[in-house]
Amino acid sequence: MHGIKVNLGPRSYDIIIGRGILNRLGQELLKLRVGTDAYIITNLWLKNKYGEKLRQELRKNGFNSHFKIVPDSEKSKSLEAAGLVLKELAGWDKSRKVFIIAFGGGVIGDLAGFVASLYKRGVSYVQIPTTLLAQVDSSIGGKTAVDLDLGKNLVGAFYQPRLVFSEVNFLKSLDKKQLASGMAEVIKYAVIKDRRLFTLLENKYKDVLRKEPAVLEKIVATCSAIKAGIVSRDEKELSGLRTLLNFGHTIGHAVEAAGGYKAYNHGQAVGLGMVAAADLSRRLGLVDLGTVLRVSDLLRLYGLPVKLKGVPIEKIIRAHYRDKKFIGKENKLVLLRGIGRPKIVRNIPLSLIKEAVKTVRH
Ligand SMILES: NC(=O)c1ccc[n+]([C@@H]2O[C@H](COP(=O)([O-])OP(=O)(O)OC[C@H]3O[C@@H](n4cnc5c(N)ncnc54)[C@H](O)[C@@H]3O)[C@@H](O)[C@H]2O)c1
Ligand SMILES: [Zn+2]
Repeated sequence: MHGIKVNLGPRSYDIIIGRGILNRLGQELLKLRVGTDAYIITNLWLKNKYGEKLRQELRKNGFNSHFKIVPDSEKSKSLEAAGLVLKELAGWDKSRKVFIIAFGGGVIGDLAGFVASLYKRGVSYVQIPTTLLAQVDSSIGGKTAVDLDLGKNLVGAFYQPRLVFSEVNFLKSLDKKQLASGMAEVIKYAVIKDRRLFTLLENKYKDVLRKEPAVLEKIVATCSAIKAGIVSRDEKELSGLRTLLNFGHTIGHAVEAAGGYKAYNHGQAVGLGMVAAADLSRRLGLVDLGTVLRVSDLLRLYGLPVKLKGVPIEKIIRAHYRDKKFIGKENKLVLLRGIGRPKIVRNIPLSLIKEAVKTVRH
């Protein structure tokens, strides 16, 4: 079992990671005095698969619980969905000792955090992430959001959970696509911050793809520590440190948007964005071709695409300039000086970005 602290003064919290740890959840919640009534936001599949165990663990420690089922799709990250949840929550909450549990992937985590930040001007919430992506990324750092038609994650707040509880055994039921999607973020952490993790991912890919629990636990713990370290020093993305987490995401978001959120899922798009960013680093003389190939070979090992198909470059560039992180016309990208050595570069000529995106095309 691993315990990692996110250090944010009065908003500090622990990330607990392990295999077969669900039977410790109740005790952890009691220590935190989060409340007595758990309002668990999840989807039907997760409730059917793991809900009873969760309910029993809570009951054993004297907690009441209620499952709020939301649809299993990004559509649950909407103002409408949040409104429905809030109204139902207000109806259920008789005790005034309610707290929220986000039990699911990133969609549920973002929605539940958003709801928790608003209900009664903020109630406690706990993240119990069940996808690899959620365990290594979305459950940590307090970014909560819902989408608008105009763009993803446009409405939300920074609102920190009281605990992140990552039961690695939940990952056993992930399918290949969900695992690969989380691996794109894992590879991102390795590329920007951890050469040893990068080598481990190269050497142990068969174990990871088999979802061997010990290696998954090591990966979740390593990545959680990296993210915890970054968000502890830059809670609200003000100092530029948190920007490093955008490696592969600027071009990746543009690929995702240009493909209408259908051609590529988030992990796949981020993978393509990382290849483009690595190639851009090469074009600027920051790394050699060997480094670019190491990144794309690793993505390929995990079943992530490294060649872009069917999305026109012009559409990607247009989407790139609509990115909400741009200030005026100035662009800012996270590039590489080597594996584990990121570098933020500003005002990169559009022609170079285009060339780099083209290299990830057939
Ligand atoms: N807040 C943040 O900092 C942050 C960071 C990254 C991503 N995100 C958000 O996260 C979302 C993506 O998260 P995601 O990739 O976890 O997607 P998701 O929440 O849609 O989950 C993917 C699928 O996996 C299923 N699933 C969940 N747990 C499972 C399990 N244990 N076994 C089998 N299936 C399981 C879900 O039901 C769903 O069908 C996006 O909305 C993205 O914007 C947020
Ligand atoms: Zn991401």
